[in-house]
Amino acid sequence: MSEQPLPESAPHTTQDQALHVDPTATVSPDARIYPSIRGTKISIGAHTAIHEFVVIKAVGGTGDIRIGSHCQLNPGTVLYSGSGITIGNDVLIAPGCVISPANHEYRDPLTPIRMQRFMPSKGGVVIEDDVWIGAHCTLLDGTHIGKGSIIAAGSVVNGKVEGYSIYAGTPAKKIRERK
Ligand SMILES: CC(C)(COP(=O)(O)OP(=O)(O)OC[C@H]1O[C@@H](n2cnc3c(N)ncnc32)[C@H](O)[C@@H]1OP(=O)(O)O)[C@@H](O)C(=O)NCCC(=O)NCCS
Repeated sequence: MSEQPLPESAPHTTQDQALHVDPTATVSPDARIYPSIRGTKISIGAHTAIHEFVVIKAVGGTGDIRIGSHCQLNPGTVLYSGSGITIGNDVLIAPGCVISPANHEYRDPLTPIRMQRFMPSKGGVVIEDDVWIGAHCTLLDGTHIGKGSIIAAGSVVNGKVEGYSIYAGTPAKKIRERK
């Protein structure tokens, strides 16, 4: 079954399997993780906390989801694997964020979008270490957030974010450096 969430009682698994949760990580029983049956992987690092109503789902592409250590994913955040999501260490993701590096193909106007599969990858989403993503942000395919940066609440990010900077808006622009 591809669409069943991880049972609350599921054991931690090995890194060769579809889902690896470090034994020191905490996953709320109210979070939902849907591992892939198509060979992609989800891993959650040491001391990372996945809070209630987070959804992590292998869907929409062939990328893995890799979450580092000491991260916090707050309630209502959704990760769809798409072209791949790599989150470093010490990353804070506020409530209500969407990380979905996948675009439906839409260029044939005579075929319903739902039947056109997906666009080629733009590289997935990469979040380097020590990043804070404010509430209700959306990170699109091709996003790469440099180490130490902040994304202001309500931003939509679709490209490269310099390190140790603060970005805000739609599309997110640099508003200042972090000193
Ligand atoms: C980015 C942030 C940290 C900046 O806070 P700050 O250092 O106190 O900065 P300021 O409030 O002085 O704002 C600096 C400028 O950025 C703008 N700005 C701040 N947040 C913004 C946002 N979310 N979207 C657009 N512009 C924003 C301000 O209007 C201000 O512009 P100005 O210089 O033209 O007046 C904060 O605004 C933010 O978004 N925090 C996220 C909070 C959150 O999601 N918490 C959830 C719990 S984890």
